[in-house]
Amino acid sequence: MRSFLTASALIAAAAIVLQSRPLGAQPKDTNYDESKVPAYELPDPLRLSSGERVADAETWRSERRPELLKLFQTHVYGKSPGRPEEMTFEVTSTDDEALGGKAIRKEASVYFTGEKSGPRMDLLIYLPRAAEKPVPVFLALNFGGNHTIHPDPEITLSRRWMRNRPDRGVVNNRATEESRGASANRWPVETILDRGYGLATIYYGDIDTDFDDGFQNGVHPLFYKEGQTKPAADEWGSIAAWAWGLSRALDYLETDDAVDHERVAVMGHSRLGKTALWAGAQDERFAMVISNNSGCGGAALSRRAFGETVARINTSFPHWFCDNFNKYNNNEDALPVDQHELIALIAPRPVYVASAQEDQWADPRGEFLSALHADAVYRLLGTEGLPTKEMPPLDKPVMGAIGYHLRTGKHDVTDFDWEAYLNFADRRLR
Ligand code: GCU
Repeated sequence: MRSFLTASALIAAAAIVLQSRPLGAQPKDTNYDESKVPAYELPDPLRLSSGERVADAETWRSERRPELLKLFQTHVYGKSPGRPEEMTFEVTSTDDEALGGKAIRKEASVYFTGEKSGPRMDLLIYLPRAAEKPVPVFLALNFGGNHTIHPDPEITLSRRWMRNRPDRGVVNNRATEESRGASANRWPVETILDRGYGLATIYYGDIDTDFDDGFQNGVHPLFYKEGQTKPAADEWGSIAAWAWGLSRALDYLETDDAVDHERVAVMGHSRLGKTALWAGAQDERFAMVISNNSGCGGAALSRRAFGETVARINTSFPHWFCDNFNKYNNNEDALPVDQHELIALIAPRPVYVASAQEDQWADPRGEFLSALHADAVYRLLGTEGLPTKEMPPLDKPVMGAIGYHLRTGKHDVTDFDWEAYLNFADRRLR
């Protein structure tokens, strides 16, 4: 009882702090000056820790890839458990004539412990009705609840904890009817369907609520060993938990005959872009990975310390990465990896990195350079990699096995971004 009270007091305190402090605010001393980027040397993705060169695909696969995965697990995101044996699925609603007959809409719950009263996440799935099945699918977590991605009144309204946004219909940390479709501008559902793809989405707070509660809520406690009260220094933070949830969603999609589970593209924006990259790096069942404005701890190189830095992100969001990542606050050169190697872990599968010109906090150039420095691994594995050495002009996507664009405008997901992802999928996922 006593520890329960302490935990709930902690959650309440954290929630209060959350309401009063703008998280991730950009401090005045942020570096946005290219000439002040420190001199740095990137770790070579094609050199083993022993110093030996990785000269062939076999050495990459059997030695370097596992070594790099382990380094990211230990020092950056923390290691995650696998699929719980007891996990079960339930389709909770189906409509074969959704969105005016254009779509099949399904909702499905994933019960992590197999208990209906236990922790679960809820998927919303739209499939193009007219398309021949199985169809390729984009899988992406959402920030505001499944009901925010489209005004479709049949989508179940999320009852989970949410950050207050009275302007978007979230009050007392709960969604109201007002919040339906609040993020629809980021989810061109009809366009995706018209292009022959399905879309599956989950509220990320179903997996772990996004505030620092000492890992008492969310999926972490399900895996604590006897006496454990929080993840160890090399165990999963929230980003790794969200990524784990994406893999559990894929476990479900594998059971759905209308979904081509060998053609699932995992996509995410911002902190969920970091999450998509980590999910795709670890879980090779994802056939394609898309990072939208993922920035620090995502596609952007940490050593550039341009815009958001490792120290800044670990301070604003102490729950996102594993505890070990704190060792690299203002100490990026000591990192045994950098983010180009996260992209390389996705090779040879297609990966797309997208930046926005006004999103300097996420370091567009650092995002591009990650894609560029992953190229050597993609080429070693027999793909064309990233077909440019220079940052492409504004609004001109480049698409090899690695895709990249720098879009006009701010930190967001726009129709332009989706158009590029659909074109990329047409070329690489079919
Ligand atoms: C903050 C944070 C970023 C993150 C972004 C988001 O700006 O500093 O790292 O990508 O929030 O997820 O919206």
